[in-house]
Amino acid sequence: MNSITHRNFCLTKKEVWDARRKIYHSQGDGFLLLKGFLEKKFSDHLVNYWCRLLDPPQTHVLFPGKEHAFYAGCPCYYKQARSTGLKVFYNPLWSNQHEVVSNEIAVSIIHLRSQIEGKAFTREISPRPGQRCVVPRLIITRNGENILAPHSDYGLDEPNPRNIDLARVQATLFLSRIDKDYSGSGFVFTKNNGDKIHCERELGIEPGDLLIWRYNNVHEISDICSEEEQVGFVRMLFPPEEIISKDRSIPLLEKAKYFLRSIKKKFF
Ligand SMILES: [Fe+2]
Repeated sequence: MNSITHRNFCLTKKEVWDARRKIYHSQGDGFLLLKGFLEKKFSDHLVNYWCRLLDPPQTHVLFPGKEHAFYAGCPCYYKQARSTGLKVFYNPLWSNQHEVVSNEIAVSIIHLRSQIEGKAFTREISPRPGQRCVVPRLIITRNGENILAPHSDYGLDEPNPRNIDLARVQATLFLSRIDKDYSGSGFVFTKNNGDKIHCERELGIEPGDLLIWRYNNVHEISDICSEEEQVGFVRMLFPPEEIISKDRSIPLLEKAKYFLRSIKKKFF
């Protein structure tokens, strides 16, 4: 598995078998760690671009909420909380042409994941109303407590039966290092045997490592802390988002309101 990278992500039958056993089997961990999935020059580039160079209001639209956001041709969005320093970027593959490196890396991860799930790669790569499509998300978490309450996704407790899918896996691409760029709990994952693991410390996670994990196992982030000179907890996720038809998207007037609000945030 050590040879699986963003340049070489087509698995052999044996690798698929091994990955599924680690992730889904009751005696498996519920996750698979691919060390060095991304070369250092690419993880450095992503951090530099998303954390230092980017001026979100120039390239992204303020996130209008999930129920209005994602449709074919929708823009890139950002969300930020000045009090905690949180920044989230939602980058639909069709929209993020200004940062093709992130797109290329995202596509390699979506493809890798689809092999493990045993689903067609193209199933969630095109935006079709009423279905799901992966919208890569980059998250910079700087400070806070109860950042991600313990929860699971796509499990048997989903209120909408359409959302139950026990084969789903999520992937976290780590782009910063615990105890250097941030401190705190990091990503805490509950394994198939019920034991919790503090992934970054216990697995020795470094920037560029990819963790593929069972989506319906409980996961959480209890606290993150970073100083002014630290970049924070930076990661990419690849959630399948619900796609709406464009006429259910946010009206023009509302768009203008979000735009004005983003200008106001920028200058005041
Ligand atoms: Fe989740």
